[in-house]
Amino acid sequence: MKKIVVAIDGPAGAGKSTIAKLVGEKLGYAYIDTGAMYRSVTWKFLGTGEAFDEAFIGALSNKMIIEFKPEAKVNRVFVDGTEVTDAIRTPEVTANVSRVAAIGAVREAMVDQQRRMGEIGGIIMDGRDIGTVVFPNAELKIFLTASVEERASRRFKEIIAKGQECDLEQLKQEIAARDKADSEREISPLKQAEDAILLDSSDMTIDEVVQTILKMVEERL
Ligand code: DC
Repeated sequence: MKKIVVAIDGPAGAGKSTIAKLVGEKLGYAYIDTGAMYRSVTWKFLGTGEAFDEAFIGALSNKMIIEFKPEAKVNRVFVDGTEVTDAIRTPEVTANVSRVAAIGAVREAMVDQQRRMGEIGGIIMDGRDIGTVVFPNAELKIFLTASVEERASRRFKEIIAKGQECDLEQLKQEIAARDKADSEREISPLKQAEDAILLDSSDMTIDEVVQTILKMVEERL
């Protein structure tokens, strides 16, 4: 059967990773979380203890080997053989990742790897620039979004469910700040591709979003 490339872009916390993983499993496609790649570079950089320097971080990103090992619940992530699945989700990494993802050399290195992963099709990739830059010819492009309130409230529930404390207002502010940084950066900003389908998941369940996307894939096969 024909295998296509599915690109899912959208702002932080819209549920891209959850949705893309489920759709990938249903289709038997490889799922690539490109946010995890930018987070991996950020983790590696923070671990060096060096001051922020674009050339240094760019060189670092070129030398790293990032690998994904999909499992039932999570997509495990490895950097140079070390597991970083949880380490790339800390508040420290989250607070620094937009800055790292704005570096041209870092984006070049990541886009290069992403294109190689998608060469043979049968892939679902989520990020900010997949439909606009990485795979401008993807057969299906979706721009998945939800209101800031809804995205903050989903994240709030996830954190509380883990038994951790957090502040909803602060979460809202952090999400809005990351939207702004990702949308206003010079290189490959977060932006809906002209031929992408806008999907607002604010009032949809995860299953509804997954089913909607599966139907779109079917129409393209
Ligand atoms: O999806 P996420 O929150 O894990 O992404 C982390 C950061 O990486 C996000 O702030 C923007 C950046 N990113 C990017 O610039 N381009 C991508 N394709 C994916 C993520």
